[in-house]
Amino acid sequence: MIVKILRLNNEGEGIASIEGKLCFIKGALPDELVDISIKEDKGNYYIGELNNVIESSPDRVLPKCPYYDKCGGCNLMHLSNNKILDFKKNKVIGIFNKICNIDINPNIYSYNEYNYRNKVTLKVNNNEIGYYEERTHRIVPIDNCLLLDEKINDVISKLKSFIQDKEHNITEVMIRCISNEIMVSFDNLNPVYKEELISLLPQASIYIKDENISGNTRLIEQIEDYKFYVSPKSFFQVNTVTFKELYKYVISKLDNEETALDLYSGTGTISILMSKYFNKVYGIEVSHSSIMDANENLELNNISNVEFIEGKVEDKIDKLKELKVDTVIMDPPRAGSDNKSLESIMEICPSKIIYISCNPVTLARDYNILKEKYSLKSVDLFDMFPQTSHIESLMVLERKILWITI
Ligand SMILES: C[S@@+](CC[C@H](N)C(=O)[O-])C[C@H]1O[C@@H](n2cnc3c(N)ncnc32)[C@H](O)[C@@H]1O
Repeated sequence: MIVKILRLNNEGEGIASIEGKLCFIKGALPDELVDISIKEDKGNYYIGELNNVIESSPDRVLPKCPYYDKCGGCNLMHLSNNKILDFKKNKVIGIFNKICNIDINPNIYSYNEYNYRNKVTLKVNNNEIGYYEERTHRIVPIDNCLLLDEKINDVISKLKSFIQDKEHNITEVMIRCISNEIMVSFDNLNPVYKEELISLLPQASIYIKDENISGNTRLIEQIEDYKFYVSPKSFFQVNTVTFKELYKYVISKLDNEETALDLYSGTGTISILMSKYFNKVYGIEVSHSSIMDANENLELNNISNVEFIEGKVEDKIDKLKELKVDTVIMDPPRAGSDNKSLESIMEICPSKIIYISCNPVTLARDYNILKEKYSLKSVDLFDMFPQTSHIESLMVLERKILWITI
């Protein structure tokens, strides 16, 4: 069937209309005439499969990755990078328009198109190492992934030779590159091959089943004036160059004040970066291992004015209601915050809220609640995940001045 593509949806898929019903087609671009097959009828929409592009968009480029049509890692490599950035910007503008009925004019900051990821988790099976094919458990073997730091690609090619014709028992491997140092963590390994593996990766920090068998137990990343431990299970932003710029931007929005809250504080990166600007910083984080890392990061940096509270923000935030808080920074997961926490933040009533989000839909939803007491100063975007439809947003809110008439 031949259809015309109208626009992209928020996931970067082409949208066509077939007798009034929308059809989403991965790999198709706006204004293209494409030959498709209907893969699934979902009731109120179709999922189409692209067979052939008949009239191509001038914005279409040849994907540089040889596995692009099989592996589900990237989804916009067939669009030129400038247009990917336009798409992301317009997507966030559209979401705020639709959900909040407000026009925003974000800047978008982009620093690296390829080789930006400092971490990958790959599947291993017999002689193959790679990603799962989208929505299957079939491995797409890879030699080199264009999203990864080149040092991680070097490790992949070594591991690829290592696993050949062995009963190695590995089914998953996580590889990290932090400050040019490598960490590799395997879910399993036949002990017969332990020494061979250590001599294959002599400088690396190596873990098997969460046990360190060689090299440093942790890696260390430097951000601004501070150092941060990174262990195999720590949360750490994946695009090093871009998250450092994002944190710099956050710092540029801070004033020297009394008290700050860092909600969803992870391993404490933002709390520690803020510690210079406030007399006291409180972080709240649910993950026990992140809290442990965060406390060790305090020691590593000799910081005494930050306190981490373990638990859910919605359960712990009310304990801080009595404080006079100047700034709240929040960086929740994709699901965003929740009504209880947002109500408590408004009762605490800081003069400034900085909200970092990897999901503009939940960001806009939460702004709709906060706007009762806060005005929107800015929304800016950081391209943390190039070649994909994902985008990191940073929203700054300021407390409204309430005029009370007597
Ligand atoms: C996007 S990460 C924030 C990371 C941190 N700001 C950083 O830069 O390292 C979101 C964090 O929220 C935590 N989290 C998820 N739900 C939570 C909740 N209800 N209360 C507290 N923390 C939560 C996760 O464990 C994760 O560390």
